[in-house]
Amino acid sequence: MREPGRLAVLGAGHVGSVIARLAIKAGYPVAIATSGDPEDIALITELIIPGAQPRWASDAVADADIVVLAMPLHRFLDLDPALLVGKLVVDAMNYWPAGDGVLEPFEGLGSSEVVARRLASSAVVKALNHIGYHELEDRARPAGAPDRKAAGVAGDDPAAVASIAGLVDRIGYDPVRLESLRAGRVLQPGGPVFGVVLALPEFERAVRQDARSLR
Ligand SMILES: NC(=O)c1ccc[n+]([C@@H]2O[C@H](COP(=O)([O-])OP(=O)(O)OC[C@H]3O[C@@H](n4cnc5c(N)ncnc54)[C@H](OP(=O)(O)O)[C@@H]3O)[C@@H](O)[C@H]2O)c1
Repeated sequence: MREPGRLAVLGAGHVGSVIARLAIKAGYPVAIATSGDPEDIALITELIIPGAQPRWASDAVADADIVVLAMPLHRFLDLDPALLVGKLVVDAMNYWPAGDGVLEPFEGLGSSEVVARRLASSAVVKALNHIGYHELEDRARPAGAPDRKAAGVAGDDPAAVASIAGLVDRIGYDPVRLESLRAGRVLQPGGPVFGVVLALPEFERAVRQDARSLR
């Protein structure tokens, strides 16, 4: 894949805006979309994500090398999987019953495994879900910075994981690869690194034991 490729961020809320800003800063061409008309986010995009191109979701995805899902999980269930066929997809979403309501398909499971089952013709990688949006932006650092932090990248397809590890690295985090979406359960709410921002050695220590038990 060309590096860096084109990104489509689906979701222009808290975390979608931050991911888009970080990616633009890292040199990625970025399109951003909601479920609606791009005209509706044109002004706000110009103000808060300068450089991002507001587009219809289908157009943004069609031209993208990487698609980031940054919408609430209950809204994902309304998304047509056909939109994402053949795409490399970053699942930055979390199952959060307090906000999403109880969603039976996600109860007791790894949310990205359920996402991947729905997107059976896409390569799904779990990443950028476990750090709050403020911190995700504030803690980003270039490679080699002494206070750089780590972020997890989990998936069943090693090539897809490698691509997204590259994205995570370029936007400002040391990527920690986890060898399956199942192992990526450590990144979700209730897991050892959800909501905490750790440097690489602490992050690896925190996830390895749990991830081994989830293989
Ligand atoms: N907030 C955080 O700090 C954070 C950090 C990491 C991960 N996450 C996860 O990221 C997800 C989004 O959280 P958020 O806080 O950013 O939510 P948010 O602020 O409510 O934003 C959600 C965005 O998704 C858009 N959207 C909904 N359905 C869509 C669709 N079918 N296609 C494209 N866009 C769509 C919404 O726009 P319309 O309604 O206009 O379509 C809105 O722009 C959640 O699963 C959350 O757990 C959040």
